[in-house]
This record gives sequence, structure tokens and C-alpha cells, in this order.
Amino acid sequence: MSLSALFWRIKQWNQYWKCEFSAGWDVSDQEQIRAARTFAVHGAAVQPVQKHTQTILESDSEVLEVLDFGAVSGMSPQLGSNAGVVRSVQVKTMISRTASSEKWGRLLLRLAQLKSGKVNLELGTNLGIGLRYLVTGSHFQNQWISIEGDPNTANLARNAFSDAQQVTLITGRFSDVLPQVLEENHDFGLVFIDGHHDGFATQKYADDIFGNMKSGGWMVLDDIRWSPSMKQAWEQLVTRPWVDRWVDLGKMGILVVK
Ligand SMILES: C[S@@+](CC[C@H](N)C(=O)[O-])C[C@H]1O[C@@H](n2cnc3c(N)ncnc32)[C@H](O)[C@@H]1O
Repeated sequence: MSLSALFWRIKQWNQYWKCEFSAGWDVSDQEQIRAARTFAVHGAAVQPVQKHTQTILESDSEVLEVLDFGAVSGMSPQLGSNAGVVRSVQVKTMISRTASSEKWGRLLLRLAQLKSGKVNLELGTNLGIGLRYLVTGSHFQNQWISIEGDPNTANLARNAFSDAQQVTLITGRFSDVLPQVLEENHDFGLVFIDGHHDGFATQKYADDIFGNMKSGGWMVLDDIRWSPSMKQAWEQLVTRPWVDRWVDLGKMGILVVK
């Protein structure tokens, strides 16, 4: 990453944990979201997530060869190469750098308690750590579908979810497998977009998915301040006619579907 790109990202850090609501929210929803933030920052470790992480760490793979379809540095517009980029990464490093952290994970857990529906969707399973928070916060009958492009990462997540009947993991590039997921599933209550991290691609996924969401469903976008293109995507998406209202939580943003 270039020095100017690094400075850009550091400048965004003081915006993390902001909480800016658009017009149209009622007071009780605002209070629930503020309470979710407080729980995220001050809550305790979540036992099912600790168990999940332990299962991953106990797997035989210390180092994975991963096929990465995401934006590499995020600093230039990039739709992701068709073939993906192969690299070696330590599983421990992936847990600390790529997976949702405890704080943001707890926020996901609370958002799932508030808004998960009978069917929900995640783009970017990675090791399933964010998904474990989402599943922990959801009613046990609520289903989660999650898509991961890298087969080796997906296998580790699949192994850690062998106990969870409400989880369906799909392996494939979003652009290849999402159309079929959308053909077969409707009325998503909660959608979490946390992969690719390219602004143009993120806008496309959001525009493709909203029509399959319940009215009033929440689309959560991660890393809206990860790069200029992701920030621009967020600024554009909040103006879409299908967006009823939004909240900017700094690192994440939530769009409420009309
Ligand atoms: C930041 S990680 C997801 C973290 C996870 N949601 C969590 O909360 O722990 C992003 C994941 O998306 C996957 N990914 C990125 N671009 C993709 C694409 N175009 N298609 C499929 N998977 C992709 C990567 O392989 C990576 O595992």
C-alpha cells in the first residue's frame, strides 16, 4: 500500500464508531442501535464464537493457500480479477486480520437479534467468525446462507459449522453463484456484505440483492471507509430510490430497504 493510501485510511479511523442517522428513524429504533453499539464495545466474549475459533485453530491447516477474488489494496477501482490471486496465509493471521473482530462481531450479534428474518444472507464467509456471531444472535430457526470464494477457507468454515443446521455455505465467486442464490431465495431479513471490498462491485451486489429483501430489511455493509471507492459506494448507495433510511456506524453502514 502506498504511503498516501495509508494516510487516507488512518484519517478515516477517527470516523469509526460514529453513529449518524438519516431522517425517518423512530426513537426506539435509534435507541436499540445505540444500545447495540454499547454492547459491542463493552460486552463480554461470546462463548459459541470462542468455540468456533478454537475448532478452526485445532484444524490441521496452519497455513492456507487462498484464492482471493477481493480488491487487493482497495486504493484503485478494481472489479476483481476473473482468475483470482493465489497467496499463502497463516490461519492465525486470517483470524486477526480478515475475520470480524470481537467488537464488530458483537455488533453483528445484536443486529441479528434485532433484524434477522427466516432467511438471511452473508457475502464473504471467510472462516465463519462473523457468521457465528450472526447465527448466535438469530432465532434458532432462522436460516443463514453465506458465500465464500476460496475453497480452502470455505472448508475450514464448513468444518466449524458442522453443528449448525441453520447454515448453508456456498463456495464460489459472488458474481458466479449469487444469481442462483437470488433465484432460489427471497425475503431476506438481514444481509451482510463483507467481501470483495471494491466500491463498484459492492454497489452492484447491493443493487442485485435489495429486490430479494423484505420491506424494512437491513442491508449491512462492512468497511465503508476501507478505501475511497468503498466510501464513494456508501455515499452513492444511500441515495438509491430503494433505500428508505440509513445509519452510518463508521466502519459499517446499514441501509433499510423500502
Ligand atoms: C473480510 S473477509 C469476510 C469476513 C467475515 N465476513 C467475518 O465477518 O468474519 C472477506 C471474504 O470474502 C471473500 N471474497 C472476496 N471477494 C470475493 C468474491 N468476489 N467472491 C467470493 N468471495 C470473495 C474472501 O475470500 C474473504 O474470505
